[in-house]
Amino acid sequence: MSGLSSKIQMAIFASGTGSNAQKIIEYFNDNPQIKVGLIVSNKPEAGVLNIAKEEGIPSLVIDKEKFFKGNAYVDELKEKGIDFIVLAGFLWKIPSLLIKAYPNRMINIHPALLPKYGGKGMYGSRVHETVISAKEKESGITIHYVDDLYDHGKIIFQAKCAVEENDTPETLAKKIHLLEHENFSRIIEQSAKNIVKT
Ligand code: GRF
Repeated sequence: MSGLSSKIQMAIFASGTGSNAQKIIEYFNDNPQIKVGLIVSNKPEAGVLNIAKEEGIPSLVIDKEKFFKGNAYVDELKEKGIDFIVLAGFLWKIPSLLIKAYPNRMINIHPALLPKYGGKGMYGSRVHETVISAKEKESGITIHYVDDLYDHGKIIFQAKCAVEENDTPETLAKKIHLLEHENFSRIIEQSAKNIVKT
């Protein structure tokens, strides 16, 4: 079924649990302008796909070969009427083909204060371990546009939390997840609401 809708349709890309995806879906549930039209994952067993099923949102499990050497699913996304892409814990690098198809319409959330503590391999607990061993006094989240480099595009929003002496990667992750859940959906709405459906 083609994704024709007068609403701005977003696709959420996620590789893991999907706690951010869950919050985003809840936030946009009765939004008159924007809807979550698709959940995309590179992991058939990802928790985010169960969330999609429970919420009655179509999902797509992508294949590495087609993503990196094929059309990067641009045709499928356009056919489904996707106007905006949100990366919420998606661990693959986005191919240029897909970035070019969604100029200033693709954002990512990173669990640290970029430009520090970002880049290839910097995700999940590894980020918090590095921040703690660097004896940083604060950490936080960064929401940014996606470009051809990992965690590098124009920064849209950052929020901070303290890093206490007795913090562990687990306790810091909890504070960071809270910041994500409190802010990401609102920033998505601010970034997506002005785009013109093509
Ligand atoms: C979040 O910490 C986000 O910052 C990072 O991946 C994680 C996704 O967590 N990009 P979840 O799957 O949404 O719980």
